[in-house]
Amino acid sequence: MPMCGITGFIGNNAAANALEGLRTLEYRGYDSAGIAFATKEGRIKVVKTVGDVSALDKKLAAEDMSASNFAIAHTRWATHGGVSDANAHPHTDCTGKVAVVHNGIIENFQALRSELTSRGHNFSSETDSEVIGHLIEENLRTMGFVDAALAAFRRLEGSYAILAAYEGSPDALVAAKNQSPLVLSAGDGFAAAASDPVPLAKCSKEGLFLEDGDFAIIKKGSLEVLDLRTGKKVGRKPIVFGTGSVFSDKQEYPHFMLKEIYEAPAAIRLAAMQEPAALEKAARLVRENRVVFVACGTSRHASLVGRYLFNRIGGKFCEVVVASEFPYIAKNIVDDDLLVIAVSQSGETADVIEGVKIAKARGAKVLAITNVVGSSLDRISDCALHLNCGPEIGVAATKTFVAQLSLLYLLASTVVGKKDDEKRKLDEVSRILENSLPGWDAVGRKLSQRLAKEPAAYFIARGPNFPTALEGALKFKEITYIHAEGMAAGELKHGTLALISKGTPVIAICPNDYTHAETISNVMETAARGAFVIGCSDEPNSAFDELIAVPKVEEHHFPLVFSIPLQFLAYHTAVLRKNNPDRPRNLAKSVTVK
Ligand code: AGP
Repeated sequence: MPMCGITGFIGNNAAANALEGLRTLEYRGYDSAGIAFATKEGRIKVVKTVGDVSALDKKLAAEDMSASNFAIAHTRWATHGGVSDANAHPHTDCTGKVAVVHNGIIENFQALRSELTSRGHNFSSETDSEVIGHLIEENLRTMGFVDAALAAFRRLEGSYAILAAYEGSPDALVAAKNQSPLVLSAGDGFAAAASDPVPLAKCSKEGLFLEDGDFAIIKKGSLEVLDLRTGKKVGRKPIVFGTGSVFSDKQEYPHFMLKEIYEAPAAIRLAAMQEPAALEKAARLVRENRVVFVACGTSRHASLVGRYLFNRIGGKFCEVVVASEFPYIAKNIVDDDLLVIAVSQSGETADVIEGVKIAKARGAKVLAITNVVGSSLDRISDCALHLNCGPEIGVAATKTFVAQLSLLYLLASTVVGKKDDEKRKLDEVSRILENSLPGWDAVGRKLSQRLAKEPAAYFIARGPNFPTALEGALKFKEITYIHAEGMAAGELKHGTLALISKGTPVIAICPNDYTHAETISNVMETAARGAFVIGCSDEPNSAFDELIAVPKVEEHHFPLVFSIPLQFLAYHTAVLRKNNPDRPRNLAKSVTVK
């Protein structure tokens, strides 16, 4: 049931390897963690706990895992069912001989559970996932492990990446995939599986990315993929893991988020290094089709900036649709002259993938903008552009937002034949930003003293910076847990102004461009009601109580510039409130459930 990270390993030191991989998957969820491994007596031992992988490590301290020759592990982000030891994975059957980890949602679990209960199975969790082990258990009475798992998985409806182990079959793990990601690799004396390539990239250069409807048999040194329904072999070509598969560490930074904010200038330059043929193909698709962006969260905010860029640079009108809403309107807008630009850092967001599938089924073309080479989105799109900015570990998107914007500047400029000019300008902006980072870090830290005690904050802007205000508010609320709203400055007087009183923080994103005069008028309206105004601008103004100064850049580059001081502001406020900005409560980096 959860949206989670899973790993599996078969070979020497399987438990240690599965756990090491699990640590790199915690961005997918960190409510609870667990592992099932083979003991030296050849039994399956399950250890699981509420908390993250370090909590699991503590619980495992007394265990001897040295003889483990297979293991499956799990880090959970709860959706249905509370965060408890019992609901943590792996789940077992009644005998404790079968263990299962699952990422996704088994939609028909209630029917399966009542059926299994009526036949005497005892359940020890509230999860949907637990049915899988019991289904395998029943089949094992009449068949071997592989066939038992095949038959069990065929009964499942919904989304899943599953790994299952059986102590009666220590030479093989089995896996299945539908909608949730699963990657496999094998080498001399081992085979491994994981939700993304990062845990596998340490020992393999390439892997098999399972497709929906695949079933796999994982043995030391070999991988076999079958069609889950027919049981016939299917060929899956190995894909070389991208550079984004290399796990990075925090270096000298206290949090990944801070490190990743500081990586913004590099992210701009890396995103601008696009393969010319792919960029030209994408630009041609934009020129020749109607365009709609489909994305969630921060990626949607980048898309909203993209809408302004396509409009102002490319003279093209396009729409941005929240991915989870796309299915409800797709019927009337999607046909074969539509280009869906699907923007997703992870390339695994379930709402985006669903939108893309709907679009493809109705004949639309799909351009992916993603950071993860080989991700589900990357593989199902007609054309893909990659952010190239390395893995982002902090749950709050920072450098990838900057990279998405950079790529959209480049794409909009390529559409009108000005690619080289824009590349040069982006390089200049990245150099300018490099010099600004320490000052923004300091001012963010100073202003956090004031903001950390507030119950709410309001972010306002106009034009292409309106999405920057939305993004500033999202970043702020997701890691500080302070209510924050971002809005078009002109909208204030249509309702939200009622919430502004003495001392209410208003963060006004206010470049000295064609939106300046009107935004300042809106700032004055809040100041007149006693707001504490933090102006974020290249131009001081007496209406501001505090100023976050930004350098003067070309007007369409302002969203790129403003996003960074707002990230520092959120970061320092979160840290001051003793929150872990890398792991905001209730959230996860990769949202693979709908
Ligand atoms: C960003 O700070 C958020 N954590 C979140 O909104 C994120 O942008 C969203 O879940 C979309 O993710 P994606 O880009 O991987 O599709």
